[in-house]
Amino acid sequence: ATGTLLDTRGRPVRDLRISVTDRCNFRCVYCMPKEVFDKDYPYLARRELLSFEEIERIARIFVAHGVNKLRITGGEPLLRKDVEKLIERLAKLPVELTLTTNGALLKQKARALRDAGLTRVTVSLDAIDDPTFRMMNDVDFPVERVLEGIDAAHAAGLTPVKVNMVVKRGTNDHAIVPMARHFKGSGHIVRFIEFMDVGSSNGWKMDEVLPSADVIARIDADMPLEPIDPNYPGEVAQRWRYRDGSGEIGVISSVTQAFCSSCTRARLSTEGKIFTCLFATEGHDLRALLREGRSDDELASAIGAIWQQRGDRYSEIRTAETAAARKIEMSYIGG
Ligand code: GTP
Ligand code: 5AD
Ligand code: SF4
Ligand code: SF4
Repeated sequence: ATGTLLDTRGRPVRDLRISVTDRCNFRCVYCMPKEVFDKDYPYLARRELLSFEEIERIARIFVAHGVNKLRITGGEPLLRKDVEKLIERLAKLPVELTLTTNGALLKQKARALRDAGLTRVTVSLDAIDDPTFRMMNDVDFPVERVLEGIDAAHAAGLTPVKVNMVVKRGTNDHAIVPMARHFKGSGHIVRFIEFMDVGSSNGWKMDEVLPSADVIARIDADMPLEPIDPNYPGEVAQRWRYRDGSGEIGVISSVTQAFCSSCTRARLSTEGKIFTCLFATEGHDLRALLREGRSDDELASAIGAIWQQRGDRYSEIRTAETAAARKIEMSYIGG
């Protein structure tokens, strides 16, 4: 509609990340540690989740407010029943439509996702050697099956496939160079992500963050790199390419080099709350408005008001105290 919706720091809304389930079949140590996410964990009940119709309606309104990129996340989004039906609905909107997955179900789903209109996928993969990967996912899932999922995504045309590795110093940082080497020349783009203090259960400590500058130095020592320009203003990852022309990698440095000043992302949780920051403590309940029978115009102005009040810049003001504060879990609002 307006096209000029800005928050209190002059940032437009361009990117909506939609979480479609709070469940996951992995228990990554930095995201859903087993001790917390056990069989008694209170996951959302079915009636609490937004329906595909409700998600589509909200997405449409965000698109009218300027969003041109939708990302489906979770939890593990491929666990949501009939997720390709949601993709079919969203693919009709004038947006880039992507999905972030752990890859476990990608081999069987890649073709259907592509046929439904998905543009690309991003696959999380925290090591290329099997023992480290099994330790990171903590459910003994073999790396081979994720690699098959990546191949299937590539074959289906969900390209370029991006591969996200969260780096925890002392846990999987030995896997950085092997990871880069494995995907060099494959056409897939690996991005190394600094371990962040999202949620309240991952026991984050600054000592476990390996700065992206060190990641680059380690890879560059073996396989020389040079920086390249962003694809678009406000791109989260900083891009580097191999000097021998065999492809690119990225680093995402939310801890050592915050990128809040260009953050154009909104997040829609599984149960229909809008979060204007990954580190928010509270969301805005859109589901209540939907289920009260409000009109599209009313929803649009509610969303506009939420965005106009936004002043978030958590990564710029992170301290030991803020890191310890109670925040919403990433599996609930989506990465
Ligand atoms: P593409 O360029 O389309 O792949 O999008 P992207 O770079 O946003 O990639 P993706 O959505 O895979 O984000 C990669 C990771 O960066 C996420 O999983 C988060 O760990 C981190 N990230 C993304 N957005 C934010 C953000 O707004 N704040 C912070 N602190 N981290 C973010
Ligand atoms: N720090 C950095 N990245 C994280 N992710 C999940 N938790 C964290 C964290 N604490 C990543 C996942 C996935 C994406 C959705 O976010 O590995 O790639
Ligand atoms: Fe699941 Fe992704 Fe969280 Fe790992 S990081 S537990 S795969 S949602
Ligand atoms: Fe955006 Fe919040 Fe991340 Fe900063 S910390 S980049 S405001 S989501």
